[in-house]
Amino acid sequence: MNKSSNVIDAMAGLESQWLPFTPNRAFKQDPIVFDRAEGNYYFTPEGDKVLDGSSGLFTTPAGHGRREIAEAVRDQILRLDYTSSFLRSHPASWGAILAVSRLLPRELRQIFFVNSGSEAVDTAVKIAQQYHRCRKEASRTMFVSRERAYHGSNLSGVALSGIASNRREFGAPLLPVVHMRHTWLEANRYQPGQGRHGAELADDLRRLIQLHGTENIAACIVEPIAGSCGVLAPPVGYLERLREICDEFGVLLIFDEVICGFGRTGAAFAAQAFGVTPDLMTMAKAITNGIVPMGAVAVKPEIYRTIAESAPTLRTEMFHGYTGSAHPVACAACIAAQEIYEAEGLFARAAQLSEPFLKSLFQLSGAPGVVDVRGYGMLAAVEIDPAVIGGDGYAVQKKLVKRGLHLKVTGNNLIVAPPFTSSSQELDFIALRIAEVCQAGLNTNN
Ligand SMILES: Cc1ncc(COP(=O)(O)O)c(C=O)c1O
Repeated sequence: MNKSSNVIDAMAGLESQWLPFTPNRAFKQDPIVFDRAEGNYYFTPEGDKVLDGSSGLFTTPAGHGRREIAEAVRDQILRLDYTSSFLRSHPASWGAILAVSRLLPRELRQIFFVNSGSEAVDTAVKIAQQYHRCRKEASRTMFVSRERAYHGSNLSGVALSGIASNRREFGAPLLPVVHMRHTWLEANRYQPGQGRHGAELADDLRRLIQLHGTENIAACIVEPIAGSCGVLAPPVGYLERLREICDEFGVLLIFDEVICGFGRTGAAFAAQAFGVTPDLMTMAKAITNGIVPMGAVAVKPEIYRTIAESAPTLRTEMFHGYTGSAHPVACAACIAAQEIYEAEGLFARAAQLSEPFLKSLFQLSGAPGVVDVRGYGMLAAVEIDPAVIGGDGYAVQKKLVKRGLHLKVTGNNLIVAPPFTSSSQELDFIALRIAEVCQAGLNTNN
């Protein structure tokens, strides 16, 4: 029996699997299955090659199957496979701190490790609340988020979410959150990079602070580029204005860089790409090239000190953490991934590839069935009209996989985030396949 038929036999398990963010019953009728990955490609059990146009799930900018990371993980397992980080530490965590700190804006110095983006968001929320409590401003418990935001699927992520389907089934949110308007504007349609219109949308923050009371607002959280909802780069001047308003009212600014971080914008973080430094930053995904789940929150030292110094020396300052916080294996993967990014100059490569990448995708602007194209750095979205194409984003995704291209889809947005190891032919292939599917429509068999 060959390896791929083994995989197909094992697919009997699929019926018992409850897949996340998936129409499970439809999916199981005609599943997309990847059995292997190497470089910029996935391989199906039948051996078909599928270009990974979304770097896994924004996780894998250095491509798949990186031996350096595999070896670092193996070595770490054999050296120190696990220790808790509650009242303990280990050298791999310091290595990971150094590897990440080197990239951060210099104002962000203190790092708390977690296992995912959702946990990073929960952690940032709790740090913000405790920080204000330690400053004797305990009434600051409320957060300002934004329509179309995605901040993970834990309960604080649900409360912060600006995507209706992600919140509607889950009752009253646990966290008090109010939402600014999103930044999609008709005037910015088909605009590559930052939209020229919409900086004034940041004034929603001022309005909400005034409405709910400065003394009640802990923080404003935004994705510098809203990613999962379909890639909305910040209008020119927008993030700067958020920063000014936060400073004016003593509100913390949190950048959720779970997608933007580690080169996706062409800089290490979006904070540097846009020249705006938050007080807290969340990150995950590409921190290990996606190979081991890991996330982190970086904060300004003043926030750490305020919380640390508020408690007697022998008392735990923050009652928060995870069994897997600073997991040695994740830390080893993080160090090895960061070494690859540096050795191969992958962030600079992302910056170079951005122009040809966006150019090829923006050729789809105005094509039949395409209603918008947006993008910044190595992150872009093509928004389709399902009525013209003859099917929604999910149907298009399936069709694209059959034509050798893997993309993330949210609603009717095809989200493109290629590995930074992509060749220009691979970038062109992405645009070509999307164009073919949009032009041919879904009713044809080709
Ligand atoms: C901006 C942002 N925050 C948080 C998350 C949640 O990350 P995770 O799925 O690792 O929990 C995501 C996931 O896509 C994200 O895009």
